[in-house]
Amino acid sequence: MSHAEDHEGTRRDFLYYATAGAGAVTAGAAIWPLVNQMNPSADVKALSSILVDISDVEVGTQITVKWLGKPVFIRRRAEGEIIEAREVAMADLIDTNSENANKPGTDASDENRSLDEAGEWLVMMGVCTHLGCVPLGEGAGEFHGWFCPCHGSHYDTSGRIRKGPAPRNLDVPISAFEDEITIKLG
Ligand code: FES
Repeated sequence: MSHAEDHEGTRRDFLYYATAGAGAVTAGAAIWPLVNQMNPSADVKALSSILVDISDVEVGTQITVKWLGKPVFIRRRAEGEIIEAREVAMADLIDTNSENANKPGTDASDENRSLDEAGEWLVMMGVCTHLGCVPLGEGAGEFHGWFCPCHGSHYDTSGRIRKGPAPRNLDVPISAFEDEITIKLG
């Protein structure tokens, strides 16, 4: 049975068995043609939320999943990354808004941007806020977080813009833990 034949009114979530960034993106791409064949209302409903299996994500690594046609970075930060992010003074930030859809209007402290209180998980749109390139991760750039090579924007370990032309911190989408090994986007 295809997803399109599911009972009307039930929630449609897609579970990605994400073991690596490339694998997760491939899984996402494979399901797109099916979703696109669905009628408009079901299409919007299906795309509005996905579930991501994070059980294989090691500390100090990240996966990239495709959601609403855009990349989303899900990083499981090492302790050093968390400490570095939390030691930054607000006065040193270019954008002092958290840019977190879960916490609109809050400041850009790392506590307001990370998904869990301890700060191990960071979920962000993988879209540079300058002109939309996909930044490089794994400690890239002068602030050891992400670097957008298109025009040289440097983001810190909390995904906050620190240098370069990008005006805003990387956006944090609506996201939550569905259970211990699953993050829900949307
Ligand atoms: S698109 Fe990222 S710096 Fe311009």
